[in-house]
Amino acid sequence: MAIHSSNNNYFYIMFTSSLLFGICSSQLTSNFYDSTCPKALSIIKSAVASAVAKEHRMGASLLRLHFHDCFGCDASILLDDTSTFTGEKTAAPNLNSVRGFDVIDNIKSQLESACPGIVSCADILAIAARDSVVSLGGPSWNVGLGRRDSTSASKDAATKDIPSPLLDLSGLITAFSNKGFTTQEMVVLSGAHTTGQARCQIFRGRIYNETNIDTNFATSMKSNCPSSDGDSNLTALDVTTNVLFDNAYFKNLVNNKGLLHSDQQLFISGGSTNSLVTNYSNSYSAFFADFASAMVKMGNLSPLTGTTGQIRANCTKVN
Ligand code: HEM
Repeated sequence: MAIHSSNNNYFYIMFTSSLLFGICSSQLTSNFYDSTCPKALSIIKSAVASAVAKEHRMGASLLRLHFHDCFGCDASILLDDTSTFTGEKTAAPNLNSVRGFDVIDNIKSQLESACPGIVSCADILAIAARDSVVSLGGPSWNVGLGRRDSTSASKDAATKDIPSPLLDLSGLITAFSNKGFTTQEMVVLSGAHTTGQARCQIFRGRIYNETNIDTNFATSMKSNCPSSDGDSNLTALDVTTNVLFDNAYFKNLVNNKGLLHSDQQLFISGGSTNSLVTNYSNSYSAFFADFASAMVKMGNLSPLTGTTGQIRANCTKVN
C-alpha cells in the first residue's frame, strides 16, 4: 500500500508539473474556440479554399502575411496608420508587396456575424496560413489558438526584423536566430518560396550580376525582367511547380535556380547549409514534417494572451 500511495504521489507530481510546464511553455490551445465560436475553423477554411481556388497565389500571400506578422504574431501587420503610429504596411519589406488583406477582412466579417468579439485577427492569420499551405498540397499542423490583437504597430520594428532578400547566409542565420530559430528552421521555413511570386526589382541584381546561377535560368528570367525596366513584373519564386507546395524549391537551389539572392545563399560553394538543402531536395516527407514543426514554433512567437491586447472588431483598426 505504501508503495502504491507513493506511486500515486509520484504520478500526481508528474501530472501537475507537466500540466504547469505545458501552460508555461505555450498558452495557446488548439480547442480555444470550441465552445465560444465552434464554426470559426470551418468558416476560415472555406474562405481560404475559395480565395485560393480563385487565385492560387493568394495561398502564398496569406502564408507570407502570417510570417511578416509573426516576427510578433499579434496582427499588427493588419493595422492602418493612425495619428499616433505609422503601421507596418508601408515598411520596406511590405510596401507594394504583402497582400491578402481583403481575404482576412472578409473572414473577419463572417466571424463577427457568427460570434462577435471572439476570434482574434492574429489567430485568423495563423489559421489562414495553415489552410493556405494545405490548399496548395502542403502539410498540415495543429494551430495553437488564443492569440490576441495588438493595439499598436511599428513600421521601424517591421523594417528591422523582416529579413532582406539581399542578405548573405550569415545574415539570414542571424535574422532568424534573433527570433529564436535554429539554422535548420531558417532553411526549412525558406521552403515557403516553393510558391508565390517576386518582383523584378527584387531579383534583378541576381539574374544580371551573380555567377552562381544556371545560365539558361538567368536568360529566361531576363525576358520578363529587363535590366532597367519592369520593376514590378512578377515571376514565380519556384520556376518548376509554383502553384504546388512541394520540395521543388530545394531541388532548384541544388541546380543554382534560386530566384532571390537570399534563396541561393542556402546552397553555395562550401556553404554550411548545403547538406540541409540536399536533404530536403531528396525528401518530401522530411521537408513537410520539419516545415510543419517550424510553422508551429513561428506561430508561438510572443503572442499576446490572457487579458493583454484586445479582440479587434475590425482587423485594420484598434477598437
Ligand atoms: C529567409 C528569409 C526570407 C527572405 C529574405 C524573404 C524574402 C521574400 C521576398 C523579397 C519576396 C518577394 C516580395 C516581392 O517581390 O514583392 C518573398 C515572397 C514570399 N515569401 Fe519570403 N522571404 C523569406 C522567408 C520566408 C518565410 C519564412 C516565409 C513563410 C514561412 C516566406 C513566404 C513567402 C511567400 C509565400 C512569398 C510569395 C508571396 C506572394 O506571392 O504573394 N518567406 N519573400
